[in-house]
Amino acid sequence: MREILETLEQSAFSEIDEANTQKTLEELRVKFLGRNGTLASVLKGLAALPPSERPLVGQKANALKGKIQAEIDDKLRHLAEEGHSESGSQDLTLPGVFWEEGGIHPLSRVIREIEDIFISLGFRAVEGPEIETEYYNFDALNIPKSHPSREAFDTFYLACPGGDSEQARDDKWLLRSQTSTVQIRVMEKEKPPLRIIAPGRVFRPDAVDASHSFMFHQVEGLWVDRDVRFSDLKGVLTLFSQDFFGSQTKTRFRPHYFPFTEPSAEMDIACLLCHGKGCRVCRQKGWVEVLGAGMVHPNVFRAVGVDPRHARGFAFGMGVERLAMLKYGIDDIRLFYENDVRFLRQFA
Ligand code: DAH
Repeated sequence: MREILETLEQSAFSEIDEANTQKTLEELRVKFLGRNGTLASVLKGLAALPPSERPLVGQKANALKGKIQAEIDDKLRHLAEEGHSESGSQDLTLPGVFWEEGGIHPLSRVIREIEDIFISLGFRAVEGPEIETEYYNFDALNIPKSHPSREAFDTFYLACPGGDSEQARDDKWLLRSQTSTVQIRVMEKEKPPLRIIAPGRVFRPDAVDASHSFMFHQVEGLWVDRDVRFSDLKGVLTLFSQDFFGSQTKTRFRPHYFPFTEPSAEMDIACLLCHGKGCRVCRQKGWVEVLGAGMVHPNVFRAVGVDPRHARGFAFGMGVERLAMLKYGIDDIRLFYENDVRFLRQFA
């Protein structure tokens, strides 16, 4: 019996050694180890042995089963490593295996870059809801009831009543048209000193063209402490521009009006393309507007229960698509949303 096992071992090993396809190895496994295989029929012969010999031979047979299986596995691994195909030969004309690797969307990249710059200046990134109420999008931001941006031409209103709280019943629901809402959401929960930025989507019922979309992204910023000044606003936003667009970037601040800041300004950068001489991108002005900003209006502080005598700060809001278009020379906002890999791949 022992000899039979030894012969079996030898022939199994030499056949496995010669096999060079997965298919042959599978056949050998069935032949030697299968239910009607050689080893099984040898084991049937155990019954004929004297009882004292049975355990030892049984053990050996089992050990042999393990050895043959391991040998087949080894060989299979070996074949796979060598790249043998089923037929046992290699087809060098087969195309390789491609990993379709995803990339980070250019808008996400730009948002991260903006975040990194402000985080390095001590800001913290937070988020707010895209579905909002009139209160957060307008009232708390000192935007009067008569303001044109409240019209349905400029804001998407929602039909749903949106919950059962008292405020929900009184308030109209809408898709936020600006990230300034997050100023209110944050200051309701946390009192100054505060230094936050809030990136996110905003929505406006604009007709889509090369520079407008009904959905786009903004990054809001807010720095409030006891004594933050307009010079801090200018300093922080100039630093940001030079970090984002390049250290030679020039900025200028023009007086402007926003209901939630006083005084308010818009910041321009000297056109990156013509460096202020005037070209198609800056419409011959030499400067391009990149963000709105100002000192937080006392009424905004009052709306969140902060005493304006003890708090001072500045806020700003910038359009992410606009910044990305200027930085990368992209001339159509729709490219960001079409998922055309020929465009996206350039930023991967
Ligand atoms: N929310 C303004 C907009 O969407 C941008 C803005 C202007 C934000 C001035 C601010 C700010 O925080 O102070 O046009």
